Amino acid sequence: MTATKLTLRRKKPESFKGDLLVSCLDQDENGKVKIRKNIAVKELKNAIALGDFQGKLNDSLLLYPTAPGKQKPSACRMLVIGFGKSHDKSLIELREKCRITGGTIAVKAAELKAERICLCLPPLNNMKGDEVVECVLEGMLLGDYRFLKYKKADRKNPAFTGIKEIVIYAPGGFKAMRHSMDKAGHVATAAKEARDMANEPGNGWTPESFAKYGRKLARRYKMRCIILGKNDLKRAKMGGILAVNKGSSEPPRMVILEHHTTRKNAETILIIGKGLTFDSGGVSLKPSAGMEDMKYDMCGGAAVLSTMRVVGEEKPDVNVVAIVPSTDNMGGSSALKPGDVIRHYGGITSEIVNTDAEGRLILADALAYGIKKFKPTCVIDLATLTGAVITGLGHHRTGLLSNSQLLVERLLAAGENSGEPLWQLPLDEEYIKQIDSDVADIKNTGGKSAGTITAAAYLQKFVGDTPWSHMDIAGTAWGFTKKSYIPSGPSGTGVRTLVDMIRNWEKFS
Ligand code: BES
Ligand code: MN
Ligand code: ZN
Repeated sequence: MTATKLTLRRKKPESFKGDLLVSCLDQDENGKVKIRKNIAVKELKNAIALGDFQGKLNDSLLLYPTAPGKQKPSACRMLVIGFGKSHDKSLIELREKCRITGGTIAVKAAELKAERICLCLPPLNNMKGDEVVECVLEGMLLGDYRFLKYKKADRKNPAFTGIKEIVIYAPGGFKAMRHSMDKAGHVATAAKEARDMANEPGNGWTPESFAKYGRKLARRYKMRCIILGKNDLKRAKMGGILAVNKGSSEPPRMVILEHHTTRKNAETILIIGKGLTFDSGGVSLKPSAGMEDMKYDMCGGAAVLSTMRVVGEEKPDVNVVAIVPSTDNMGGSSALKPGDVIRHYGGITSEIVNTDAEGRLILADALAYGIKKFKPTCVIDLATLTGAVITGLGHHRTGLLSNSQLLVERLLAAGENSGEPLWQLPLDEEYIKQIDSDVADIKNTGGKSAGTITAAAYLQKFVGDTPWSHMDIAGTAWGFTKKSYIPSGPSGTGVRTLVDMIRNWEKFS
């Protein structure tokens, strides 16, 4: 992925000479498109007069202006994009509309193979200019995504590899605008890196790949990175991740990456992601139809490590520690078996009923270890943990389970704000009983019913009193709600929610 250059333009957009001049037009309260003088070319006026362009959200019109005189833009093409009405929308709705608009522009840019684009944004009611820039740009960068690494290059008809430069022309002060552009760039790049990791096949992205990425970020941003290998995990008695790794010839890793602020008495947010690089189910083998999708079982790990990229760039005033326990789940001859009893970090024993419920085993060690070592203010884990969350919430919302309503509120707000909605599920005593075992402290499945909740109940056994939330992203990490800025395939979900929460962090306790 090559970075897209983002620049601000003060000169008139008509004289922009790139591949595409984009003008985004909103409607007034009566639904009439608000045309802007400087790019009111004859062709656009005709289209509006005929009713062919009304300025509704996602309306688009491609023009090749020929009009002589001042009003002919220098760019060879002009794309007019509708934004609809804005006066009656909440800020949350407007942010999403902006991202959708940006995504739509990116899709058009790819069709036209437009590499240099000038983006003209209107002033909106109820939303500051720099926030419009942030969200449209975020959508545009996120929508400008493709994974071509394993495709042969076609010399005669080269594939479009992405937008090279976006020049922004919008109302607002220079400093605020530049800040918004940086924010959009950071978070979109991170989410796209998470998608890249997820798109890699199981033989292309291994536990050591997470370690390499962690070390790279640590070098670039001067963060601390500790990698625990198989022997370290043995010494620390992390029986969960070791058990899952037993059937594999690929060694496990636990990647720990730390950002420390210089501010005194800062709180610490611990984020943990499931980095299961391929889930065959192990001895409790999964059916082969669709098993290839289980290369995506590392999306939680991808999300938390990519989030650290933004943390490295922006250095927030709060400590952030990321942990990714990583292994694949294979059924080799020494694999974990149903009926086996394992001992987690910290001593809790677990009866393995189904080796395919492996995510909770690796997360349990990471939670217990991370909480003991870092004494965080709160901990959030992200995991493609259960198929049941897809049955319950489909592909539109991430499941959220927690022991802290304050943390729930923060995550719900961050999810709304970033277009990654969450939905809270209960975690009452009755569900916790479902994982009682006759032979060990707990067992790793809770029966047929409430699979998402019993999985969370398992994790909760390892967090003690620390405020904790679990995000089950099995339905949203790939195949997420179709949106212009989220192409099919892995979505990078979680990155933008975590980043929004970290950016807006206020003292927790
Ligand atoms: N990685 C899967 C969950 C999953 C399933 C994610 C489908 C995305 C799509 C997880 O490790 C798993 O296999 N969970 C089991 C748990 C069961 C055995 C209790 C499941 O959901 O079937
Ligand atoms: Mn599994
Ligand atoms: Zn899994």
